[in-house]
Order: sequence, then C-alpha cells, then structure tokens
Amino acid sequence: MKDHIKITYGQKSLEALSQKITTKKYSSVFVLVDTHTEQYCLERFFENCPLEIDGVLTMNAGEENKNLSTCEYLWNELSDQGADRNSSLINLGGGVVTDLGGFVACTFKRGIDFYNIPTTLLSMVDASVGGKTGIDLGALKNQIGIIREPQEVVIETGWLQTLPEDELRSGFAEMLKHGLIANPNYWKTLQSLTSLSSSSLEPFIKTSIDEKTKVVLEDPYEKGLRKILNFGHTLGHAIESYYLTHKDKSRLLHGEAIAIGMVMEAYLATHCSGLDAAEADEIKKTFAAFYPQIDITFEDQNEILKLLRHDKKNKAGRINFVLLKAIGSPDIDVEVPHEFFAKAFEFYQSKTN
Ligand SMILES: NC(=O)c1ccc[n+]([C@@H]2O[C@H](COP(=O)([O-])OP(=O)(O)OC[C@H]3O[C@@H](n4cnc5c(N)ncnc54)[C@H](O)[C@@H]3O)[C@@H](O)[C@H]2O)c1
Ligand SMILES: [Zn+2]
Repeated sequence: MKDHIKITYGQKSLEALSQKITTKKYSSVFVLVDTHTEQYCLERFFENCPLEIDGVLTMNAGEENKNLSTCEYLWNELSDQGADRNSSLINLGGGVVTDLGGFVACTFKRGIDFYNIPTTLLSMVDASVGGKTGIDLGALKNQIGIIREPQEVVIETGWLQTLPEDELRSGFAEMLKHGLIANPNYWKTLQSLTSLSSSSLEPFIKTSIDEKTKVVLEDPYEKGLRKILNFGHTLGHAIESYYLTHKDKSRLLHGEAIAIGMVMEAYLATHCSGLDAAEADEIKKTFAAFYPQIDITFEDQNEILKLLRHDKKNKAGRINFVLLKAIGSPDIDVEVPHEFFAKAFEFYQSKTN
C-alpha cells in the first residue's frame, strides 16, 4: 500500500487524469455518480476531464442506498454494458459513491482499477483517501468491505460550490477530528473560524488529507495507529445508524453524528484516559458553536447503546474506544465501563457555559 496513495490537486489534475486513463488503454471506462452528482457534477466533469466514457452508472443518492442491492444493480450494469477485467471505474461523488463504488470495483471480476473524484468536503478530507471501501449491512455501518487504494484520488474543490451548507458542516467534523487526534495547532486554527463556507474551508483541505495519509501510510490495515481516525466514531456510528433507521427522527449526517460522538467521547476521556475536564469543555463548546444541538431522549439513548454493542470494532463483548489523553494526543483500545455512557449523553445535552 505504501506507494499507492496517489493524490493530485486542482482543476488541472482532472485533465491530467483524463490523459492518464487514456494512456492506460482500458477496455472500457465507466463513471459512477449518484442522482445528485449526476445533476450537479457530471457536466463539469466532462468539461474538465475530456474522456471517452463507455457508460455512466447512476445510483440513488443517500446513505440508505449504500447497500448490497445497489452493488448488485451496479455489478449487473457493468456486466450488461460489457465491462471486463481490464475496465475501470471513476467514482464521482461523496463518501457514499466512493465507498460503494470502490467496493463494487474491488469485487467486480475480482477487482478492476478505480479512481476517486470526491465531490463533498467529507469525501475529500476523509472518505476517498485511505483505501477503505464498503457498504452497510442493515443498520450496521460499513460491515462489508475491502481495503484497497484507488489508482488515484483527484481533489478539486470546485465541486463544493453546489454542496449544501449542512454537508459542508458534516465534512468539517472530520477536519476538527484531525486536529483533535494529531495536530493541536490545526485544531486551534479551525476553532477560530467564524463561518463555514467552501472558501473559508478550502485552504485547510490539504492539511486534513496530509494528517490522514500520514496515519494510513504508517498503518494501512488498522492494526494499531490507524484506529485513531475512529475517534468519535464508536458512539458516532451508533448515533448515525439510529437516526438513519428512524425516519421520524431528524436527519443526521455522518459528520453531525460524529460531532456528537466526539463530544461524548471527550467526556468519557475525562474518566478513562486522563483528559483534562477543561479540554473536554473546550471540545464541547467548539462543537456547540458549529453544530445544532440534538435532543436525544432516554429511549433514543437506549437504542443507540444497543447498536453500540454491535460495533465491528468490539472484541469479546468489550467496547473499545479511541480516547484523548489531551488534545492532539489519542490513546487507542481504551475500555470504557458501561456506567459512563448515560453520563456522556448528559454531558452532551448539558448547557454550554
Ligand atoms: N472510507 C472511509 O475511510 C470513510 C471515511 C469517512 C466517511 N466515510 C463514509 O462516507 C459517507 C459519507 O460521505 P458524504 O458525507 O460525502 O455523503 P454522501 O456521499 O451521501 O454525500 C452527501 C450528499 O451530497 C450530495 N452531493 C455530493 N456531491 C455534491 C455536490 N458537489 N453538490 C451537491 N450535492 C452533492 C450527495 O448526492 C449526497 O446527497 C458515509 O457512508 C461514511 O461511512 C468513509
Ligand atoms: Zn467519519
């Protein structure tokens, strides 16, 4: 994996990609979009990446479609449209498209080349980089998947112009995470932003990608260090899954759920990994400034905790967390006694001073 993380930046890199793909002489080239990126990004893609394409494959937008039946549909489409072992797939979309498209490519004919062109902030700073591909299984996130790097990831921030503001905020949570787990100065800089817009966030995208790739290069298969990227995700995934399967609840995006996870896990850290209470408060305050407060009822909490017990990272019934010892200094595989969970919800819900 070491030499395989190829990330290029800027509009010109889209043109370079088209040349690279042409030189590779694939038997056929397909582009995967979802219904939104088909609408907002496809035309611009063809303008900037002049390529002969053999087919555009479209999946329904949304996390609820990151599942096996979408894969089956796409495997059939590839097959019906004549794709073979020497074909390739370009994933043009957010994390759902890059995760699922990567998985489809890795499994079709035992693996064809794929390229990621992330079009959301979250997929730029996180999902499209690091080789994790996969799909959800029922309510459980990312249960099925493969780790394999794409041939190339092209980061072009122009896509963000059409991205809704809540999606920007969702991606921003992963950027804050990079600061919290690895780079206190970066955390401080992001903390001081007064507004979230594509232009205010663009200058920081590369720093986030650099933080992530440093970790992934060190530990591509998540034997140790890479686990730090799961900070906020143990609780965050359970919260995300819960809101995904309860349509009567407000919509919660990945980053928004992870943001709640990070606040709650900051509380757990004050008990289980020595995080200073003042730093936990600072984390809570910062997230409260950027994210709307969600009312998580007692009933919701119980359901979320049930899902938490199914987390794929649990070993022998123990729920392990990535917790901070201090801002910028994470600890992995920290076991958290169950009695702290209710208090962590309370901490999240409590008023920010
Ligand atoms: N593989 C990894 O390492 C990794 C890391 C983090 C997250 N993820 C996964 O990523 C997914 C979340 O990614 P996401 O937040 O990008 O979600 P997403 O792919 O669902 O995109 C969010 C929404 O924005 C739309 N969209 C995308 N680009 C657009 C654009 N330029 N203009 C307008 N609309 C656009 C999409 O159609 C969708 O409706 C989750 O499934 C999560 O598990 C994976
Ligand atoms: Zn995430």
